[in-house]
Amino acid sequence: MKIIVINGPNLNLLGKREPEIYGSESLDEIEQWLCQQPDTANIELHFIQSNHEGVIIDTVHDSIDKYDGIIINPGAFTHYSYAIRDAIAAVTIPTVEVHLSDIHNREDFRKISIIKPVCIQQICGLGKAGYLEGLRVLHNHLGHRSI
Ligand code: DQA
Repeated sequence: MKIIVINGPNLNLLGKREPEIYGSESLDEIEQWLCQQPDTANIELHFIQSNHEGVIIDTVHDSIDKYDGIIINPGAFTHYSYAIRDAIAAVTIPTVEVHLSDIHNREDFRKISIIKPVCIQQICGLGKAGYLEGLRVLHNHLGHRSI
């Protein structure tokens, strides 16, 4: 199973950015942690982070015939990017939306996800464990042995 994990704007600042909300670990540390989990041993994981909507869209397009699934934390694009939503709908690759924080218990504008309807599941409020949970969801969805 080949999965791409896409992180959107400002997530390159994890560890420094509002640690009381997003935690003290860097994105690199979270990605390494994910790779070290026994559950991900048989999963080929690829990672990309971008602050640019177009790069995220290109990455989703380039995932066709390359990846079995997508995990995406679109950052603030979650709340208004119809273009990322359309890209996910266009490629029909099973996609899970992940947020470190609980977007339903923050500012009102964060409660709306434009992305959610084109994803198989939204996971939020679990911190880095949300990415691992997202992989489990994809694994089960793709019909592999449960991890
Ligand atoms: C986030 C939540 C978004 O509202 C915010 O804009 C982010 C991070 C999260 O992981 O909790 O950049 O996606």
